[in-house]
Amino acid sequence: MAKDLAVVVLAAGAGTRMKSDRPKVLHELAGAPLLAHVMATAQALEPARTIVVVAPGMEDVAAAAHPADIVVQQQALGTGDALAATRTTLERFTGDVLVMFGDTPLVRPRTLENLLSTRRGDERCAAAVLGMEMEEPDGYGRLVLNEEGFLDAIIEARDATPEQADITLCNSGVMALDGRSLFDLLAGIGNDNAKGEYYLTDIVAVARKRGFTCRVVIADDPEELIGVNCRLDLALAESAFQWRARGVAMENGATLIDPASVYFSFDTVLGRDVVIEPHVFFGPGVSVADGAVIRAFSHIEGAVIGPKAVVGPFARLRPGTEIGPEARIGNFVETKNTRLGKGAKANHLTYLGDARVGEGANVGAGTITCNYDGFAKHETVIGAGAFIGSDASLVAPVEIGKNAIVGAGSVITENVPDDALAVARGEQKNFPGKAKKFRDRRTRMTAKDE
Ligand code: UD1
Ligand code: MG
Repeated sequence: MAKDLAVVVLAAGAGTRMKSDRPKVLHELAGAPLLAHVMATAQALEPARTIVVVAPGMEDVAAAAHPADIVVQQQALGTGDALAATRTTLERFTGDVLVMFGDTPLVRPRTLENLLSTRRGDERCAAAVLGMEMEEPDGYGRLVLNEEGFLDAIIEARDATPEQADITLCNSGVMALDGRSLFDLLAGIGNDNAKGEYYLTDIVAVARKRGFTCRVVIADDPEELIGVNCRLDLALAESAFQWRARGVAMENGATLIDPASVYFSFDTVLGRDVVIEPHVFFGPGVSVADGAVIRAFSHIEGAVIGPKAVVGPFARLRPGTEIGPEARIGNFVETKNTRLGKGAKANHLTYLGDARVGEGANVGAGTITCNYDGFAKHETVIGAGAFIGSDASLVAPVEIGKNAIVGAGSVITENVPDDALAVARGEQKNFPGKAKKFRDRRTRMTAKDE
């Protein structure tokens, strides 16, 4: 654990520019709230303290911040005021305070470590700020450097002179501050600016006035520092995340035939020699073992896919799915809370919900597990080696024995013993010549009408 490090995540802003009923930091990126991404990065640094600043009534944000300490900023008076709200919590803390924003989800632990070592490398450095070169700096704060390359001030976009607005070196919002001077400097910040807010960025000018130095670390990859203020930013951050995840998947030995059309969640895990065909979506909680193939247009969430399994095309795997080694799920097959044993197959047009399918069993086209009676869910168990004929309805709770066969079109409401053949459908009657008679009669009637 890093005893000399506290992380403070600011998340109390209203997020007005999102035009949303949901707090900004709970908007999702790759299937997890923005704040969860920030928390995961913060935890990677193993800080002694993690504090999340929220607004009154933001219980759901506080819940997403678990296990951090929560501090409430009574009124959203600006980022400087938000950090000042941690004063009583951090008063005795003399290490470094790393400030992160809940709306900046893509920053990497490595980048933060660089920033911290820059702060620590200079006794007089009150603040080390993570900067980025932006072609279109738009709303970002501009970093003003002095002749020696030290940071002199941060000017918010709204307050910038045209000359300052031309600066392309921007403030990411991430700062490493010396805990010993932090709260004294914060007290020196005013709110005489375009927004009438206490800007944390002004800590730099205050520190300079009091003889401290401030430094900038420029991030190699500005995409890491995208701050999400509106829906367009959210889409930009999502795209950056996806390209990062696609890169990691390929680096680890998966083939993505068309990477741009494959979407990952924050926690997707792919093994070696996995092949992902175009247009596949991974929701949260998916792992795909070595050698498995996910064919085109599949939607997969909460599923563990075994080695050399083949899924899709057009498969839908829902939470609680476990696909055994070499098992196959084919087109238009949906699974939910279902375990398929090794080599089991459900190749066409099937719904398997709350089911266990034994090793090597074959589930025929159009089979439905009727798992829901309008009140509760019930389980279907299909034994190893069983064969379910096409278009069977298995009315749960029900058990099909090992190596049993269910005749096509059956509605099975009772358990089928091992090795038994079960047929449950209307018996077929043939009426010789009756089709011809019917056709002849209709032909005569139509002729009369004309
Ligand atoms: C801020 C920076 C800007 C920087 C940009 C990077 C300031 C004044 N400006 O601008 O220099 O380029 O981030 O993305 O710091 N928050 C609170 N309480 C408040 C206000 C904000 O907790 O009273 C939180 C928000 O929830 C958010 C973060 O602080 O997570 C940043 O606030 P936001 O309003 O998004 O600042 P920007 O305009 O993006
Ligand atoms: Mg922002």
